[in-house]
Amino acid sequence: MGKLRVGIIGAGGVARYAHIHGYQALEDAEIVAICDVNEDRLKKMAAEYKIPKTFREYQDLLKEDLDAVSVCLPNYLHSQVTVAALEAGKNVLCEKPMAIDAAEAKKMLEAAERTGKKLMVGFHRRFGQEAQVLKGFIERGELGNIYYIKATNLRRRSIPGAGGWFTTKRLSGGGVLIDIGVHNLDLAFWFMGHPKPTSALGVTYQKFSHLKRVPTRFGDMDEKGVVDVEDMALGLIKFENGAAVFLEVSWAAHIGGGGTREFRILGTKAGATLSPLTIYTIQNEQLLDTTPVLRGKQDHYVEEIRHFLDCIKEDKNCDPSGEEGLFVTQIVDALYESAGKGETVQVST
Ligand SMILES: NC(=O)c1ccc[n+]([C@@H]2O[C@H](COP(=O)([O-])OP(=O)(O)OC[C@H]3O[C@@H](n4cnc5c(N)ncnc54)[C@H](O)[C@@H]3O)[C@@H](O)[C@H]2O)c1
Repeated sequence: MGKLRVGIIGAGGVARYAHIHGYQALEDAEIVAICDVNEDRLKKMAAEYKIPKTFREYQDLLKEDLDAVSVCLPNYLHSQVTVAALEAGKNVLCEKPMAIDAAEAKKMLEAAERTGKKLMVGFHRRFGQEAQVLKGFIERGELGNIYYIKATNLRRRSIPGAGGWFTTKRLSGGGVLIDIGVHNLDLAFWFMGHPKPTSALGVTYQKFSHLKRVPTRFGDMDEKGVVDVEDMALGLIKFENGAAVFLEVSWAAHIGGGGTREFRILGTKAGATLSPLTIYTIQNEQLLDTTPVLRGKQDHYVEEIRHFLDCIKEDKNCDPSGEEGLFVTQIVDALYESAGKGETVQVST
């Protein structure tokens, strides 16, 4: 098989530093087309990365002879454009969150099943070396049964593109929960092997809508635009096997430094934390902390794209799959429902 022909839909932040970067770092793909409604950005990006064909309308890009497309658009467009791409015979790598809600995500999954094309969701954190090494330990049973995961990602001042699509619920589906929370939830569920959830308790806060003037590296700010989404979210998800996940995420909070991250797993045989990956256990009645020695630097995004291309070439299932993207979306829906009602809700996936 020669180089796979790829199109990029959406020429914003993530297209640049994740997708274009990833495809162009690999030998077995070439980006032949790019699309964006913003003509200026489209032309600049095409020139900078030497992408031969440009389109303002994604429907026109989908008429091209392409093996795959990356969907790098605002969240509300993920479902519509992914379904159109699958139906046009393209394999799709869609950015996270899979969709703004589970109903939209299901349409994507159904289209993938109907067309037999690949659908992968951009949960790139799985492709970090630490995550891969830890998953290997878990699969070999080294942690025993995982009964608790705590995932914290609190940022001090990082509302993406305040006033733009990220902070407009109709366009994003929500705030920090659907933006950053989904990465943490996906990682937690993947480590746990996607047990069956039973209930979810969500709490959301919107305390920093006035922070439009603080720029971040994500999205375009619009001082006259809308901020009608949460900037902090908490979630407690319980599973049929008795396990639980606690999530704590914010785009803005009065905390020290730029923010704080913690990812902690508790298992019956060992526990672990990420960044740096450390495994905590007991052997010979001795408490033991182990820090695996990792190979040199590994780029999440390049590994994510490499996996997507391998899935197409070798006709294997993508991991993270559309099913797993839907799973996360169903939990996010439940957490928002719970936060709205002020009570725990039942979850069915
Ligand atoms: N994996 C990650 O860690 C990560 C990081 C950032 C963003 N993302 C996700 O990637 C997606 C894009 O985020 P971003 O930061 O690149 O946003 P962005 O606003 O920088 O880029 C989106 C681009 O889509 C274009 N666009 C809007 N409507 C369009 C349409 N109908 N047709 C063609 N182009 C259109 C915009 O002009 C813009 O250039 C989001 O879903 C976001 O959640 C993921």
